[in-house]
Amino acid sequence: MGASHRRKIILDTDPAVGIPGTDADDPLALMLALQDPRLELLGVTTIFGNCPPALGARCAAAVLRAAGREDVPVAIGMGTRMNGELPQPLKDAYAGARGRPGRVQLPEIVNPRTILSAVDFIIETVSAHPGEVTIVAIGAQTNLALALEKAPRLRKDIGAVVFMGGGLGLEQRYGKGNITPLAECNIWFDPQAADIVFRSGVELTMVSLDVTNPTTGLMLRESAIRAVDPKSALLAPIFREVCMTYLDAPMFDWGDGCVLYDPLAVAVAADPGVASFQDLSVSVNLEPGPGLGQTVMRPGGKANMRVCVGVDGEKVVGDIVKTILAA
Ligand code: RIB
Ligand code: CA
Repeated sequence: MGASHRRKIILDTDPAVGIPGTDADDPLALMLALQDPRLELLGVTTIFGNCPPALGARCAAAVLRAAGREDVPVAIGMGTRMNGELPQPLKDAYAGARGRPGRVQLPEIVNPRTILSAVDFIIETVSAHPGEVTIVAIGAQTNLALALEKAPRLRKDIGAVVFMGGGLGLEQRYGKGNITPLAECNIWFDPQAADIVFRSGVELTMVSLDVTNPTTGLMLRESAIRAVDPKSALLAPIFREVCMTYLDAPMFDWGDGCVLYDPLAVAVAADPGVASFQDLSVSVNLEPGPGLGQTVMRPGGKANMRVCVGVDGEKVVGDIVKTILAA
């Protein structure tokens, strides 16, 4: 497939590679974005979440180095919410193991594009390709919201946003919250940012906890991880390393393996046909208190996004692994 036919994306992510107590899904999403022939990865922007964004940039660089793709720019993004605060659970985590490199040696950032901030990188890159760039946002939405505030023309110029975040309670057990009973991490980390994005008028696709959970089969099983021969593909060693880091200290008790939240957002950007969707009106609860960061459906309201409501998780996970580990 020629470069011009591939969907141009920026991956806005909180990747942690080999850092104990972090999710494996962001680096796997990055590997998928590099390997899926239907996507053209224009750059990686980092955001606080699994680890601080400067450390996340080094983690992204580790994946790019493993893939032989150090030509892809990495831009460091926001280290706090738009209001300048860092949520207390992250302050605590960053003071410990999640604030420093773990068991994988991370490169220093050498790519000169990293001197550009993530917000400016998003603005410049979208402006260079008006209407063509999809932002795949798989962390807090602070970089994106700030870019929209700084350059309001982006509301027209961003081709689309596919984001992993939120939960509408469509799935009983897992579909509401994971950081609080009502809120999902990426939205709760910066509800104000998500509110700006949700009201931006940009074409939005939501990949939420309603489908990124074990009931849809969107699980990379421990047995499948252990079965990967590190010599079988270019990305096999780092693939195994990030997954084993997760298995050694899982963030959530799924019993067996990793939920592939963020890779599903990349898979949907590559081919919306992998899932089913409903057009819905969704807002973010900004009230301080137990509902903060909850994503709420407004029945009868004007739809502002397409929400992923169904996926054959087992098939998608199989295809994702195949793509990442292709020769
Ligand atoms: O709630 C799931 C999100 O938070 C994902 O983006 C994952 O990376 C986790 O940290
Ligand atoms: Ca993430």
